[in-house]
Amino acid sequence: MFNETVLKEIDEIRAKYPDRKSALLPSLYIAQREFGWLSNDALQCVAKTLNLPEAEVRGTASFYAMFKNRPVGRHLIQLCTNVSCMIFGAEKLVDFIGRKYGVQPNGTSQDGRFSLVIMECIGACGTAPAMLVNTDFYENLSENRIEEILEGYK
Ligand code: FES
Repeated sequence: MFNETVLKEIDEIRAKYPDRKSALLPSLYIAQREFGWLSNDALQCVAKTLNLPEAEVRGTASFYAMFKNRPVGRHLIQLCTNVSCMIFGAEKLVDFIGRKYGVQPNGTSQDGRFSLVIMECIGACGTAPAMLVNTDFYENLSENRIEEILEGYK
């Protein structure tokens, strides 16, 4: 179950909307932040807190790619390999991340530090290659730049 602080946070969000269903997406974000991913327990927790049918909560959580339905590393790398990023070497960066940090696409490093997901354009084609680490955005990537960035995520 959510702790009192989180329940208060969700209550404040719910109060902003005339319909409690409108608080579902931000509540799922909060659940993911608190539990690391959206397990059955986490989804039940959101359903109970918002007094919504569990099937509706589950359906919403499974629709959006930003919600994780399995455990992920402490830091989620979302690296784009679509056309612009591919042209500027994103595939080599995927290999580099695999060699350097032991994490493959859709996988998690053994130490639980990083998970890696390949993205289909994150809207930074003009400054490719680009990635997100958690909610932090990075562009104009190179192997050296990635190493410098990822060293900041323990
Ligand atoms: S193709 Fe990578 S950000 Fe658009």
